[in-house]
Amino acid sequence: MLLEVKNLYVKYGNIEALHGISFTVDKGEIVTLIGANGAGKTTTLHTITRVPPPEGPKITQGDILYEGKSIIDTEAHKVVQDLKIALSPEGRHIFGNLTVEENLQLATYARKDNDQIQVDFKRVYDLFPRLFERRKQRSESLSGGEQQMLSVGRSLMTGANFIMLDEPSMGLAPLLMYDMFRALKELNSQGMTLLLIEQNARIALQFAHRGYVLDTGAIVASGNAKELMNNPDVKKAYLGG
Ligand SMILES: Nc1ncnc2c1ncn2[C@@H]1O[C@H](COP(=O)(O)OP(=O)(O)OP(=O)(O)O)[C@@H](O)[C@H]1O
Ligand SMILES: [Mg+2]
Repeated sequence: MLLEVKNLYVKYGNIEALHGISFTVDKGEIVTLIGANGAGKTTTLHTITRVPPPEGPKITQGDILYEGKSIIDTEAHKVVQDLKIALSPEGRHIFGNLTVEENLQLATYARKDNDQIQVDFKRVYDLFPRLFERRKQRSESLSGGEQQMLSVGRSLMTGANFIMLDEPSMGLAPLLMYDMFRALKELNSQGMTLLLIEQNARIALQFAHRGYVLDTGAIVASGNAKELMNNPDVKKAYLGG
């Protein structure tokens, strides 16, 4: 098991946002966590990346194991640098006044493996040819979809071997959305483990191996992607019937 979230309870101030969730991600998998607005998806990712309170949630019970070791006392910067877990955040958080290439370069700041950095640049540009075409362009002038690609590219450039993606389909037109998921699938076939957070259950379940459904801070269904797609409750609530 790469990641194991065990009976996790978290709070913001006095308000409990996750009520004892458990899920696992194996090496090489694409796992999706689907849920509506406010279900606790971003909270789950911020708990794993150890964003400290007050912006981040406080763990009150449960554990998070990564490669078998508890990471609940690990500092946020160590999650990225030492554990090599990356988050491609909701809302992208790229540096608009820097070029595409500068944004990618910046994500490598903690790395010393220069040869591998060059390999990863090529990998990002192969996955997202649009980023290669626009590598000298200021990032603020990219389209929403291109910024989303850049956000995923930056995660890769941190040297991560596990990437968590917070709604990568958000705001993308259908064609770009499929391009994005095809790129993610390709990344996975190269060996990258992915945890994909999505409101768009239909597309997430097409691309993931397994999934969990999060509803107001609790997991209400889980299984392989096909099972979930055929689950009557999931169909009704998340797939439009
Ligand atoms: N920093 C915060 N401080 C206080 N409450 C928060 C904070 N962040 C999230 N919450 C609350 O926790 C709950 C879960 O929010 P979260 O952002 O995890 O939802 P989500 O599933 O990512 O939703 P969305 O699809 O809209 O992004 C919500 O009720 C939200 O208001
Ligand atoms: Mg969110």
